[in-house]
Amino acid sequence: MMEETLRRGAAAVSTSVHDAVVSHVETRRPALDPTGDTRGMSAPPELPDVVHRAFDASRRAGYVSFCRNETGRLLAALAATREGTMAEFGTGCGVGTAWLRSGVRNDKARILTAELNPKLAAAAIETFDDDPLVDVLEADWSTLMDKGPFSLLFLDSGDPSAVAVDKIADLVEPGGIVVLDDFVPCEMWPPITSGRVDTLREEWLTDERFTTVEVMVAADASALIATRR
Ligand SMILES: C[S@@+](CC[C@H](N)C(=O)[O-])C[C@H]1O[C@@H](n2cnc3c(N)ncnc32)[C@H](O)[C@@H]1O
Repeated sequence: MMEETLRRGAAAVSTSVHDAVVSHVETRRPALDPTGDTRGMSAPPELPDVVHRAFDASRRAGYVSFCRNETGRLLAALAATREGTMAEFGTGCGVGTAWLRSGVRNDKARILTAELNPKLAAAAIETFDDDPLVDVLEADWSTLMDKGPFSLLFLDSGDPSAVAVDKIADLVEPGGIVVLDDFVPCEMWPPITSGRVDTLREEWLTDERFTTVEVMVAADASALIATRR
């Protein structure tokens, strides 16, 4: 996300709503850079229809803070393994929700997502209005805390202190998955971001209540996947 980009130091910055949306929608193939570095993640350029609709809602709302497509594909793949209640903390205009929804296999799963900002929540509600498996709430995500336990939690509200492992652990069912994204890949321990120990990442990677892995979703971005023991 662009906001989280600032928070966690990721590299991507967009110059305009149009550029941001277009780059997320259309530039899925790794670009050849002048050094010949071709690192990147392979992915088909087509997006699920529901993701297209969420991008359209973002564009109309003039909002460019959404998960990158690589993370979206990860969310979809994980959602495809889930039944029960999934939740997203911080809906934005619903792009992450849409990726989760695109992975849902049957009506034994549902998605709750909370967005504090009324304008953004309204944009997301439009996309999922007719979908019985998705509830978009205009609310602080803390209102979801008594609606668990969750089979998957995507923590994306942008405040690292709010998603410390101690605050989240009891919201997740055994075998449930937590996803945090927008980390800068780091090849040292403890993980360092912007010259400081990234204590959020360190805590999630070492907490004994979870089995956690950091996965690169692109050359410049990683996510944590934590499974509740
Ligand atoms: C990075 S954006 C979410 C993007 C979205 N998850 C996606 O992938 O498309 C973070 C959102 O969290 C919302 N937010 C921040 N604090 C929140 C809270 N306490 N409860 C609900 N939403 C919150 C912000 O308004 C913002 O829209």
